[in-house]
Amino acid sequence: MPVLYDKDKRIFTLNTKNSTYQMQADSFGYLLHLYYGRKTEGFIDWGYTLADRGFSGSPYDAGRDRTYSLDYLPQEFPAQGTGDFRSPLLVARDSSGTYGADLRYSGCEIQEGKYSLKGLPAVYANEGKEAETLIITLKNARLGLSVKLMYGVLPEKDIITRSVTVRNDGTGTITLEKLGSSCLDFTHGRFDLITFHGRHAMERQFDRQELHHGSHVIGSRRGMSSHQYNPFVILADHDATETSGRCWAMQFVYSGGFEAEAELAQYGQTRVNMGMSQEKFSFPLEPGEEITAPEVIMTFSSQGLERISHNLHACIRENICRGKFKNAPRPVVLNSWEAFMMDFDGKKILDTARLAKSLGVEMFVLDDGWFMNRNDDYRALGDWTADTSKLGCSLGGLVRDINAMGLKFGLWVEPEMISEDSNLYREHSDWAMMIPGEKPVLGRSQLVLDMSRREVIEYVYSSVSSILDSGNIEYLKWDYNRSISEVYSQGTYGGKVLYEYMLGLYEVLERLSTNYPDVLIEGCAGGGGRFDAGMLYYTPQIWCSDNTDAVDRLYIHYGTSFGYPASTIGAHVSICPNQQTGRITPLKTRYASAVSGAFGYELNPFLMSDEKIREISEQIAYYRRDRELISCGKYYRLNNPNDGNYCAWEYVSEDGANVLINAVVILNHGNMPPVYVTPRGLTPGTLYRDDETGKIYPADALMDSGLPLEAPKGDYESCIFRLRRL
Ligand code: GLA
Repeated sequence: MPVLYDKDKRIFTLNTKNSTYQMQADSFGYLLHLYYGRKTEGFIDWGYTLADRGFSGSPYDAGRDRTYSLDYLPQEFPAQGTGDFRSPLLVARDSSGTYGADLRYSGCEIQEGKYSLKGLPAVYANEGKEAETLIITLKNARLGLSVKLMYGVLPEKDIITRSVTVRNDGTGTITLEKLGSSCLDFTHGRFDLITFHGRHAMERQFDRQELHHGSHVIGSRRGMSSHQYNPFVILADHDATETSGRCWAMQFVYSGGFEAEAELAQYGQTRVNMGMSQEKFSFPLEPGEEITAPEVIMTFSSQGLERISHNLHACIRENICRGKFKNAPRPVVLNSWEAFMMDFDGKKILDTARLAKSLGVEMFVLDDGWFMNRNDDYRALGDWTADTSKLGCSLGGLVRDINAMGLKFGLWVEPEMISEDSNLYREHSDWAMMIPGEKPVLGRSQLVLDMSRREVIEYVYSSVSSILDSGNIEYLKWDYNRSISEVYSQGTYGGKVLYEYMLGLYEVLERLSTNYPDVLIEGCAGGGGRFDAGMLYYTPQIWCSDNTDAVDRLYIHYGTSFGYPASTIGAHVSICPNQQTGRITPLKTRYASAVSGAFGYELNPFLMSDEKIREISEQIAYYRRDRELISCGKYYRLNNPNDGNYCAWEYVSEDGANVLINAVVILNHGNMPPVYVTPRGLTPGTLYRDDETGKIYPADALMDSGLPLEAPKGDYESCIFRLRRL
């Protein structure tokens, strides 16, 4: 059984195929965390010790017993004001401004299936008995505060999710000053924290640091999950590797600001918290009101980081992404952005689309610049009317012409934004997030629409739906090109605005996905500034970065791969010198680096030589053959590009029969020693044949001593191996 409840001892055990999670409501009613690790039986009652903890006090109920202190004990939902001075998940104050909420166990419930969260994205269970839910209620009598901890268990996926609803059942206002979603408490251990930092055009760079005393905090105050830190952390045994050692992951299913904090405390305990950003959050709950915190996906591996990624990839692909595209092959696109920026007309578009079609491209995506007055990025956001004189026809007419070539049509939009120079702003300047009396911060010369307001939600929904109604538009690139700095909304209390903004955005995306199930939406935020599991619930793929440089992308994809499957990664081949870095790389390497589950080109094919044009059409044919393997296969990181001069990775089909290995040697050097890559995940005891050379390899020898790469003749050369099991 995935959820076990021992009524006498009040022990809760969550079991997945390879892991066990255990907690206990003890005799004082505190919910203590006992264990999260490899699968086990029994009651892990030796996980913590009792001793006088000096300046750490004990709850009143413990009487003269000074050995019980919440400042030391591992907890499930630490709240401020209980004598635990580590970082809490909950900070609550009453209407007199008094802080503290001593939460005690009040009851539990086990349900079939996976809980869902109203208005928020969350892991869902598929047909059959894929999941079970445990709900534990904690209460504080003085405040009348009720806290419902929700645990979702997906045993076959080795996934446990957590979320929490806090409700005011009392008579006065209770203000939440912090509401985290999930906590992992360990009494001992030497751990590293793995995080993914970055910046615009260089997102999700792998970072691993040993925890020292104090807190290591990452997060976003930007109203978006951000380019700077991804809402995803891994805690790993200090000596854990790709394939060995214990690791725990926490992935936030939320696209707004967040905070993840890992704290090594006085007795060597480690606590990792994940939740919404505390800054600019202050949530008054009136009697009868409640708030639900976004979900955290957790997984444990006793076999290193690779297993963490495999668990999360399967969960995101099958239990987060929805709709008809979740497992469908995504079309090969040609996107107009790096080809023309905003400098195009209808003829250029049609000529390009025609050539793209002849190369095997399946969808033409018209990026920014297609609507009235949008010839630069200083204006027009909010006015979603096609510029018919620029296009030479209506939007519907353009779509028809492109469809007539046998191509699908996709379009760029940035619906959450407003330009000062727009009709929308002239009519509704108060819809822009600005503090009255202050000059707003401009980001890319634009302002953010206040998605916490009903009329804005309705406007955004209706403007996007009328675009979709104007023709056979089969894809939207949903962009978001600045962060939120002014947190002000007419009619909403300041501390609630950022949370309600996200609910507004999610509502629009939910309505669009329900009413336009045939439209594939790709998320984007200046590239990968909102690359998170929350967005993936609505947009099964996300433009990974505005940086299309083949070499930089190796590092971006390496970091992204820890938490997100290839099917979600939007990556395109672009022209050289690269627009972002000026680097010149071989076309083959640009393909090898970009080949992901959402692949395409972002270039003007008329600028390519005949030879390169032929190479592109061969690449597309290869991609179409390998697309399913790339999107649905198991992903193996064969090395860490930060530790060497190359980057190699591999896709293996579920049944182990088909293998694709990509490797890029970054710099060439004089008399360079050969580089070997060692594949994993092949079927032991079998033979594999290299598609291109016909050479036959025994799987065990390949997985043992590796495969040499061809000696490079210059920088940035790549090798692609396609192996098939005999
Ligand atoms: C953002 C996106 C780009 C492109 C431009 C258009 O930067 O990430 O891919 O769509 O906007 O303005």
